[in-house]
Amino acid sequence: MKITLSLIKADIGSIGGHTRPSDLMLETVETLAQKAVTDGLLIDVFVSYTGDDIAILMSHTKGENNSEVHQFAWDAFIEGTNVAKSQGLYGAGQDLLVDAPSGNVRGAGPAVAEIEFDHSLESPRPAESFMVFAADKCGPGAYNLPLFLAFADPMYCGGLMLPPMIKGFSFDVIDMDNTDGDSVLKLDAPDDYYGITALLRDNERFGIDSIYSRTFNNKAASISAQRLHSIAGTYTGKDDPVALIRNQGIFPAPEEILSAFTKAHYVGGDSRGSHVMPLMPVPLNTAVTGPYCLPLVSAVGFSLNADGYFSHSFVDFFDNPVWDEVRKLAQLKGLEMRSQGWSGPAMLPYTELEYGGFRDTVEGLLSSFKFQ
Ligand code: 13P
Ligand code: MG
Ligand code: MG
Repeated sequence: MKITLSLIKADIGSIGGHTRPSDLMLETVETLAQKAVTDGLLIDVFVSYTGDDIAILMSHTKGENNSEVHQFAWDAFIEGTNVAKSQGLYGAGQDLLVDAPSGNVRGAGPAVAEIEFDHSLESPRPAESFMVFAADKCGPGAYNLPLFLAFADPMYCGGLMLPPMIKGFSFDVIDMDNTDGDSVLKLDAPDDYYGITALLRDNERFGIDSIYSRTFNNKAASISAQRLHSIAGTYTGKDDPVALIRNQGIFPAPEEILSAFTKAHYVGGDSRGSHVMPLMPVPLNTAVTGPYCLPLVSAVGFSLNADGYFSHSFVDFFDNPVWDEVRKLAQLKGLEMRSQGWSGPAMLPYTELEYGGFRDTVEGLLSSFKFQ
């Protein structure tokens, strides 16, 4: 049978500032999700948070961009927003940018990653395992570097030298500056290696939308590369992307996918979505509480049984002391960058400042310049 994994995430309010959603918000979304399972819309569901964002992971048979599935997620976020409002929480409904989505929440604010695949549990996928990434306080291209390295560089993924992967992977790169629609270019690794890097080096404009096995023409990864400020026209919050990644066998193994996250690489985001700070790996359900607010990323793994159920158990990759060294590295890199405050590369360039107010300040001053 065909199974679709849908991961839909939104910031709909948080406690004491932009930290984490409340327990009651999470319970409300969870209850609605379980009802969607009982009603037969979904096979299985898992609700979690990363920073102030709630992620709903779903399995079902309705395909990608299904209006019922998207509408369910939207309605659950509306109910969660009502709870956030009743509790007086910060940013209630922040990512719900339209009155009602027209059958699809893509472009309406929430982040979406989806993969449909044949789930026969036969070769080349005798077992189906996958990973769920969620990042908070960061820009849409936060996964560009680590996922490119995982799927295109044998220094990070030795499996690329094995027969099932040696032809490489193709990358659908999206131009997020094109607000007319999803403008995508397919490039193959390793053939177009340098062309891909020429685009992906610009995390604010270009993002990986999806990755496919060139040998099996099978979708390996889906990333939500959407820019909320492009959608809304004004600042509405950083883009905080999610990603779904199938692993093992014909795809990279978890350790190959995770290895580049040891860099704690610098990404756009952080405080007021306007700084450049390192990406810190954290356990699932971590609140944003550190000095400044380092960009965070969580990564958990699931296995899918023959009927499409996955939530019986999961593994939390970053909830392990081996990642403490990386967290320390991220904090040190963050402190270094913060020591130069607003100067130069510590803040995003003018066009990428997520708080339009920064631009208003500059424009107000520009109008007072005079030739001497
Ligand atoms: P969120 O997008 O996570 O709400 O972050 C907003 C922000 O500006 C953090 O300072
Ligand atoms: Mg927020
Ligand atoms: Mg957020």
